[in-house]
Amino acid sequence: MATRLAVNIDHVATLRQARMAPYPDPIAAAAIAEEAGATGITVHLRADRRHIQEEDVRRLGPRVRGTLNLEIATSEEMLAVAEELRPTQVSLVPERPDEVTTEGGLNLVGQIEEVRRAAERLRQAGVAVSLFLDPDPRQIEAIDHLGEGLVGGFEINTDRYTRAKDGDRSAQLEKVRVSARLGHQRGLRVYAGHGLTHTNVGAISTIPEIEELNIGHWLISRSITLGLHGAVTEMLAAMKG
Ligand code: PXP
Repeated sequence: MATRLAVNIDHVATLRQARMAPYPDPIAAAAIAEEAGATGITVHLRADRRHIQEEDVRRLGPRVRGTLNLEIATSEEMLAVAEELRPTQVSLVPERPDEVTTEGGLNLVGQIEEVRRAAERLRQAGVAVSLFLDPDPRQIEAIDHLGEGLVGGFEINTDRYTRAKDGDRSAQLEKVRVSARLGHQRGLRVYAGHGLTHTNVGAISTIPEIEELNIGHWLISRSITLGLHGAVTEMLAAMKG
C-alpha cells in the first residue's frame, strides 16, 4: 500500500493572520491539496490561535473529503473544542506558548494519567485518538498502559531525523524504523511527520509500517513557487521514490 499524505495547512492561516486579512483561505487550500491527491488534512489549533482558528476547523469539517486530523494539547479548552467539532481524529501534542513549532513528542511516560483522561473523553465523543511521540521505545511501549483500544495509533516525530547531519542520519532513521515496528506489533496505526521535505521523505515513506505522513511547512513554502497542487504532486512523487 502506498504511504498516504495528510497535508498540514496551518501556515496558510499563518499568512492570513500576519495581516489579519480574510485571505488566503485554509479551506480553499485543503480542497486543492485533496484534489492533488492528499488523503487527509491536518490543522493544529493552538492556545494562542497564532494560525488556525476554531472557525477554520468548523468550516473544514463538512468540506474535507478524507480525514480531518486536529492537533491539540490536552488542555480542558482544547478537549471541549474537539468534543464539539468532532474531527475524524485528534492528535494529542505537547505545546509550549513560546515555541516556534512543536518541539518534541508527548512525554507519555510522565503524563500517562493526563493522556488517558483526554483520550477517554475523545473516544467518548467518537473521535479517533493519535499521540505524537518521539522515536523512543519507552514512550511507545507506554501506550500499553493506557488501556486496550483507547488510542488507535501514533505519529512518530521525524524532526531529529530531518535535522541529522550525515554521520547521524542513519542512526536517527533506524530509531524511526524501530518505533514503527513497535507500533505495528501492537496493532496500532503508525504515522510520521515533522520537518519532512521532498528530499528527505523517501527514506521515511519506504518504511512499510508507516501508513501516513503529516507534512506542512515544506509544502506551503514550496507552493509559493509551484502552487499548492504542484507542491503536493511533487511530494507524492518523492514519496514513491
Ligand atoms: N506533526 C505534528 C504533530 C506537528 O505538530 C507538525 C507541525 O505542525 C507536523 C507534523 C508537520 O510538520 P512540518 O510543518 O514541519 O511539516
